[in-house]
Amino acid sequence: MPSASNLTNSLPENLAIKIENLSISYKINVESKKTLKNAIMRASKGERVRTRTVEAVKGLELEIPHGSVVGIVGANGAGKSTLMRAIAGILPPTAGKISVNGRISTLLALGVGFNKSLSGRDNIILGGLAAGMSKAEIESQTDAIADFADLPEGFIDMPVRTYSNGMYSRVAFAVAVNMTPDILLLDEALSAGDAAFKEKSFNRMRQLCDEARTILIVSHALSSINELCNHAIWMHKGKMLASGKPEEITEQYLKFLNVGELPSSYEDL
Ligand SMILES: Nc1ncnc2c1ncn2[C@@H]1O[C@H](COP(=O)(O)OP(=O)(O)O)[C@@H](O)[C@H]1O
Ligand SMILES: [Mg+2]
Repeated sequence: MPSASNLTNSLPENLAIKIENLSISYKINVESKKTLKNAIMRASKGERVRTRTVEAVKGLELEIPHGSVVGIVGANGAGKSTLMRAIAGILPPTAGKISVNGRISTLLALGVGFNKSLSGRDNIILGGLAAGMSKAEIESQTDAIADFADLPEGFIDMPVRTYSNGMYSRVAFAVAVNMTPDILLLDEALSAGDAAFKEKSFNRMRQLCDEARTILIVSHALSSINELCNHAIWMHKGKMLASGKPEEITEQYLKFLNVGELPSSYEDL
């Protein structure tokens, strides 16, 4: 996982994550229909696939000290998940640099790293290895994780593809929050499960926050951001529009959602 060459450990000691002038673009095929006929037509005319570039993150600067709990808010398409994937080392920066101190346990779009043909138990082990834990360390936690996820009897040894969506999300969340990561990335994870599971997740999150771990939370649950985080940023069209106290940032963002216009002080962005 965080072994890409752009992830270094040469950070000042107080910093968990440092992001310098980060830009990330996706190249997408413009072709509307991917039919065999279209492909043949194109090939016969000697045309290449037309691509378009989407700039998902643009020139982002961010320093996150150890022990911070940072909430990230912003509209759909703002670049939040792209930023999380880049910090996790899954997506290479197009430009700029990300430095990370510590091991990361990621929960990106809930269990993205899971292999569906393996059992829940095997996925927990893989998740732990990816997070830098030893096999013995993981094995001592597997039962606790299965327990946290509230899986029905026997499901922990069944292939993950047999799980319901709810079971899948709960295992993914359980893995991420029980791996005692130094840095935890949660992308819209607080919404997994029913009311009882949500409460349990929230309590576990609060516990992690109290343990002074570094946590990044992408969520539309603004009240959870206010309650859990000690810092918040607002992303808008790939840029960081505002950064500050959670209550202030979520209030500004909520106003924007209601009014549909950016505050006048941000018009230049
Ligand atoms: N895999 C991808 N391929 C192409 N474009 C993508 C991909 N993932 C995200 N995008 C685009 O990048 C932008 C940012 O998306 P994303 O990071 O998912 O935002 P958010 O998580 O804030 O909703 C959007 O315009 C989205 O359409
Ligand atoms: Mg997203």
